[in-house]
Amino acid sequence: MLINKKILVTLCLSSVIAVVALTSMKPEEEHKFKNLKVLPKHITDKQLDKVMDEWAHSLGVHCNFCHVRNEAEKKMDFASDAKPEKEMARHMYKMMNKINQKYFEAKKDSLGMVMTSGVNCNTCHKGTSHPEVTVPEGRKGPGGPPPGVPAPGGTLVPQGDHKQ
Ligand code: HEC
Ligand code: HEC
Repeated sequence: MLINKKILVTLCLSSVIAVVALTSMKPEEEHKFKNLKVLPKHITDKQLDKVMDEWAHSLGVHCNFCHVRNEAEKKMDFASDAKPEKEMARHMYKMMNKINQKYFEAKKDSLGMVMTSGVNCNTCHKGTSHPEVTVPEGRKGPGGPPPGVPAPGGTLVPQGDHKQ
């Protein structure tokens, strides 16, 4: 009888330990990033890096074009939305997804990201942060619309230089 009780206690204890061990095992990399509004919340480190590199290269900029540095902590604060360029990039990402889904029948990948089957950031940006609206050669010169007036077909003629 006494031995049986001991065995019972041991069994109980070891099952408690097993349950504790199982529940304390965390799922991998969940909600690692703090402020994702357009990219999938469960995106991995590697995939996020790839997206960020692609955006930076397409625009010909570094990370600090969209992200601020926390001077007190002496490191980049990637979660901060302090720079308007970051919000603009979100708009651009949504626009790009819409174009690809609506006009290029883009499917989603395993993460739920729309594939860039038609256009990507580089289609328009080509290594510059601020692509200018340009008019085809044939529309320029005498006979073209004055600056600022939409040309036939709705293309706006650029006025001056917008670069900061
Ligand atoms: C063109 C703008 C732009 C550039 C350039 C850019 N990022 Fe981002 N980054 C964003 C946006 C927008 C988000 C938020 C995405 C979202 O809302 O889902 C983001 C999110 C992030 C996050 C996640 C932060 C969090 O915790 O929410 C990290 C980390 C990051 N970027 C790193 C980088 C690095 C490293 C570079 C340089 C290689 C870089 N970014 C370049 C726009 C940019
Ligand atoms: C269909 C063409 C097109 C695509 C695709 C596109 N952009 Fe843009 N983007 C533009 C144009 C045009 C402007 C300039 C808008 C203006 O004059 O205000 C711009 C401006 C921006 C700006 C603001 C730059 C500044 O000087 O403040 C950011 C940031 C940006 N784009 C990021 C992106 C990112 C990131 C992607 C891909 C997810 C992307 N864009 C895809 C056309 C595009």
